[in-house]
Amino acid sequence: MNTILDNYHSPFLGQLKNRIVMSAMTRGFASEKHLCTHDILEYYERRAKDGIGLIITEGIIIHPSADGYNRVPHLYTNEQAKEWKKVTDAVHNHNTKIFAQLWHCGRISHSDFTNGETIVSSTNKPAEGINRQNNKPFGTPRALKTDEIPMIYDMFMNSADKAFDAGFDGVEIHMGHGYLIDQFLDSRINDRNDKYGGSIENRCRIALELTEQLLKKFGPNKILLRLSPSRMMGGLYEWPELDDMINYLFSELEKLGLRLIDISCANADYHQTSGKSIRKIRKLWKHTIIGGASLSVASANSEIRDGYLDLVTWGRAILANPDFVTKLKELKPLQTMTDEMRTILY
Ligand SMILES: Cc1cc2nc3c(=O)[nH]c(=O)nc-3n(C[C@H](O)[C@H](O)[C@H](O)COP(=O)(O)O)c2cc1C
Repeated sequence: MNTILDNYHSPFLGQLKNRIVMSAMTRGFASEKHLCTHDILEYYERRAKDGIGLIITEGIIIHPSADGYNRVPHLYTNEQAKEWKKVTDAVHNHNTKIFAQLWHCGRISHSDFTNGETIVSSTNKPAEGINRQNNKPFGTPRALKTDEIPMIYDMFMNSADKAFDAGFDGVEIHMGHGYLIDQFLDSRINDRNDKYGGSIENRCRIALELTEQLLKKFGPNKILLRLSPSRMMGGLYEWPELDDMINYLFSELEKLGLRLIDISCANADYHQTSGKSIRKIRKLWKHTIIGGASLSVASANSEIRDGYLDLVTWGRAILANPDFVTKLKELKPLQTMTDEMRTILY
């Protein structure tokens, strides 16, 4: 029986030394110019050295108009790629793979973060609540016009190009947690009446067209999608028409040739959220499924044993324990993440 400490091989991911994945975590430690810094390099290198199988970076912004956070890294220029190359080299030295998470925030933003440009979404309606990044209400977005959607694909394609120049093994497209692509998938937000809104087929179109372009150019071993059908978002939250959405979207992604998915639940309880979705998705998806959220080692191993997960993510536990893998191997207790830990990179 395989456990999280056993290696993993797939034609698409190649060989991983174990099934432990560091999940994407925004830290806000990029330079003023949104470049990756030496501190960020050391932060990832420490975890690679400790033996994580696969690192997925913090969300990396694909274009200046896609930002929504303070001091997050960007990746659309050669200068930005050059700094990230130092990180991928350092991580590869320890035989760990690393994917860049590519991110467009959509309406979870404010023009404070987009050089004054109006933020965009599937809708003209702003997100509810206060943006903790600037303590203001979320900005009012402009619904993307139908003929502007290909521009979004170009942004992701360009950023992916730079990611591969920077030596990443693959890219994870952030399609979850209420950000731009999810703003199209979710019928409570998407109020369009063009071919990108209305029916399930229409709401999924942006995700499918984008995936198709990425697969065509970069191939199925390079493209991972993060989706969150059921998650924490001011309480437990699920896509409306959950079962029909899952059936349609994952069958179509499979047909396109996608082979790598990461099903997340933000900071919710796995078994109440993504664990349940994964049980439905697994019936349609024979390929790699990455998932998890603060699972105990026993639960992680049983998700692998029962065939629901291939690789298991941990976020906060790896943030709080740079020696996470060593501690698991030596059966040592883990530190719990504190608020103070958010403010430092170690
Ligand atoms: C500080 C922090 C930052 C996060 N940033 C991101 C992010 O940039 N992209 C993303 O997809 N998820 C992000 N997440 C969610 C994590 O990837 C993960 O799904 C979540 O923390 C649940 O896993 P855990 O219980 O093992 O921490 C973040 C979580 C934390 C705690």
